[in-house]
Amino acid sequence: KTLDDLVDCKGKKVLLRGDLNVPTHDGKISDTTRLERLAPTIQELVKKGAKVIICSHFARPKGKVVPEMSLRPVGEALASILKLPVAFADNCVGPDAQKAVDAMKDGDVLLLENTRFHAGEEKNDPTLSQDLAALADVYVDDAFSAAHRAHASTEGVTRYLPSFAGRLMETELNALSRALENPKRPVGAIVGGSKISTKLDLLSNMISKVDVLVIGGAMANTFLAAQGVKVGKSLQEAEMHDTARDIMKNAQAKGCKILLPVDVVVAGELKNDPVTKIVDVNAVPDDQMILDVGPKTVELLNKALTELKTLVWNGPLGAFEFTPFDKATNAVAQEAAKLTKAGKLESVAGGGDTVSALKHAGVIHDISYVSTAGGAFLEWLEGKALPGIVALTTLARESFPL
Ligand code: 3PG
Repeated sequence: KTLDDLVDCKGKKVLLRGDLNVPTHDGKISDTTRLERLAPTIQELVKKGAKVIICSHFARPKGKVVPEMSLRPVGEALASILKLPVAFADNCVGPDAQKAVDAMKDGDVLLLENTRFHAGEEKNDPTLSQDLAALADVYVDDAFSAAHRAHASTEGVTRYLPSFAGRLMETELNALSRALENPKRPVGAIVGGSKISTKLDLLSNMISKVDVLVIGGAMANTFLAAQGVKVGKSLQEAEMHDTARDIMKNAQAKGCKILLPVDVVVAGELKNDPVTKIVDVNAVPDDQMILDVGPKTVELLNKALTELKTLVWNGPLGAFEFTPFDKATNAVAQEAAKLTKAGKLESVAGGGDTVSALKHAGVIHDISYVSTAGGAFLEWLEGKALPGIVALTTLARESFPL
């Protein structure tokens, strides 16, 4: 059920679970994307005359009140994005929260303090879910990026209130299912990152879903080394060689083509602007490390992109935070953006590093869909059922049949 099903909500108290876990730097909010993407749901509910009670976690205070992890400043940032007053309650449940809710008029917005100040949040304690539910008449979940957590304010609360997906949740689910459940083929994935060990489930799921899998980042070094390529001082996981070979064998059996670098950019150390060399993958010097894919690989990947209809991107191709190792990621991102703008490619990207890499390449607005999720996006790529989504689609229906 979505906001389309929540027609008559004038005067209703709506508990809206957002993900206000915005990144910070030196105690200041460094990126307000999550707030901007949540705004349409809030605005729609306000317009419908609901009393909008927002709850969210922020950082990891581990069940204790940590003043630096208060949501109050986030509420101020949200108010300036919404251009609406956002009241604040010092606790997400109990008398403070109730008093703030009682003071609300139709169309008012209230933000409750960090749900993770209560140990019950991460324990999915029914008491906390019930206390949150007691504040409202209905629950709207717009926190796709927290849907991989079975917590009191994401999963538990759906047992006690009629529950609906917000607009951001709806958009994320539609975009992600267009990309992997029901994609226009051929579909490809670019998966970067440093370790196979952290992306094993993801790679295993990808080879059964996509036609072409591009492996980049330091992970590619492990795949190359597993095939007997000498990778010098490069970051790689020697203990994952068998796994890498199994993935390649399984991919072949499933008809998924794996693309690995054919040339690479090497340097003696990882820093900005060191002395670099472009070499064939078979000619990596012993004292050098692979820090990006080379121009021949970029050409090969950009050609592969032109043959795709759908692209899922998670993880940069090189150590893009350091120049010039951002070159390949920039070039491939720009090609993906160009094809997307020309209507030839549906592109979906997600995961913390990926979003920074696409921003860095200057193409963040030219990708068809950029997810607000980090961990939840990864778990979705792994093919896992996300508890927050399961709760919305099945649990909520069982508790409150249509
Ligand atoms: C995220 O930023 O990925 C979500 O807000 C979840 O945060 P968590 O990893 O602290 O649960």
